[in-house]
Amino acid sequence: MLTTKQWLGVAFLVAGVGYGIWLNMQPEPTLETDSRWSTIPYLDANAVADGKALYQRYCAACHGASLEGQPNWRERDSAGYLPAPPHDQSGHTWHHDDKQLFTIVKEGLQAIAGADYRTNMRAFGQQMNDDQIWSVLAYIKSTWPQKIIEAHNRFSQE
Ligand code: HEC
Repeated sequence: MLTTKQWLGVAFLVAGVGYGIWLNMQPEPTLETDSRWSTIPYLDANAVADGKALYQRYCAACHGASLEGQPNWRERDSAGYLPAPPHDQSGHTWHHDDKQLFTIVKEGLQAIAGADYRTNMRAFGQQMNDDQIWSVLAYIKSTWPQKIIEAHNRFSQE
């Protein structure tokens, strides 16, 4: 027969092994699954849903209902203005880090390109509060393929 002390030992061992197995079963945090890597709440389903509605309301007219942008978006018109670029992986939205994207939407493109830069990308800080701006970005980011999300997470850290 085992003494009480020995039973306690056995129970302790079993609990330890169980904890080890449980730890092992937890998914490794990765660049795609760990929201610590991005200020943009693209893993938050509520933010993404809100952002989708806001996107359709404020952005889709220019950037396209499916984020496809306007035709010939790399060519300036005769007045020197660029058409709206796509927000999907074919564009360069994902080349801007979290902070830059937030600034572009809140304060307009001139905030990063300079006041004399001619652009139709205006500031949306009057229509949307900060949470709403992060939500729009969450929606956009949530549509990107994992590879692009991962690349974006990586350089938003730098
Ligand atoms: C009136 C048309 C228009 C609307 C509405 C609009 N944009 Fe833009 N946006 C543009 C244009 C045009 C550019 C490219 C600007 C340039 O380089 O002159 C741009 C550029 C951007 C960029 C930089 C992309 C890049 O590739 O560098 C981001 C980010 C962006 N817009 C986000 C948004 C979001 C989010 C909304 C909605 C809240 C929005 N835009 C609404 C016209 C628009």
